[in-house]
Formats: sequence, C-alpha cells, structure tokens
Amino acid sequence: MDDLDAVPWFPPAQREHDIEDEYLVGHVRDVTRGALALADSLAATRDADVDRDLVVAAALVHDVSKLYEFDGHAETPIGDLLGHPYYGVHAVATAGLPAAYAHVVLSHTDRTPVDPAFLEAEIVKRADEAAAAAIRAEAVDDLRDV
Ligand SMILES: [Fe+2]
Repeated sequence: MDDLDAVPWFPPAQREHDIEDEYLVGHVRDVTRGALALADSLAATRDADVDRDLVVAAALVHDVSKLYEFDGHAETPIGDLLGHPYYGVHAVATAGLPAAYAHVVLSHTDRTPVDPAFLEAEIVKRADEAAAAAIRAEAVDDLRDV
C-alpha cells in the first residue's frame, strides 16, 4: 500500500453511480464518528452499556478487507475469490484482536449471512449503512420533493 489516502471507497458502487472521488479513509472516518455518536446517544438516553473502545476500534477496521480486495479500482484475486468482508476477518484475527472485532467486521454488511450479535456490532453496521447512503445520495436524484 503506497498511499492509503488514494484507496477508493468501494469501486463497484463508484462505477455504478459514476462516483469518482470517494475514498476509504473518509468513509471510515464517517463510520467511526457516526458509530461513536450513536453509541454515546444510546448510553445517555437509554443508559445502554456500550463499549466505546470496541465501537471505535471495530469501526476503524470494519472495511480493512478492502485494502486486499482492490488494487486501485480493480478487484484483486482476494476480492474475486472471497468477496467483502471475509479477508478482513482473517486480517483482524491475524493481528491478534479479540473475536468480537472479527464479528463486527463479519456482520457489518449484508454480504454475509451473519447478523450482529451485540449492540456494538449493530451500531457499526448502522453507521456504515448511513455513511454509504450519504455517499450514494450525492449521486442519485433527490426524491424528497417529488
Ligand atoms: Fe464501510
């Protein structure tokens, strides 16, 4: 990886919606900020027992597999053969992080059949969906005033 800032957000969706300048680092920051805001809101209003360290760290690594799935905007053999986000589970486990982090990576996307098993995983999944929707919203017609 020569330049982390040059890694695209998600090339297939970027091609589909003709989104040129969207990058993984910005997306991960959006997800982490959104997840933390949601965690803090739930902790304040519902007295939810949320592990903020798990939310932040898991949000930061939720898309780590994209570093292996794509070379620029082209899919790599890892992306072609494994798809998102399975290699991320391997990367997180290889780094020695607890299984809970790998679970967040695995359950954050509907491209696996694994649902979030605890609140922190659900929070990261929802923050990721909202962040991705915000990117897509810039590329499609605004239907709010139809
Ligand atoms: Fe993501």
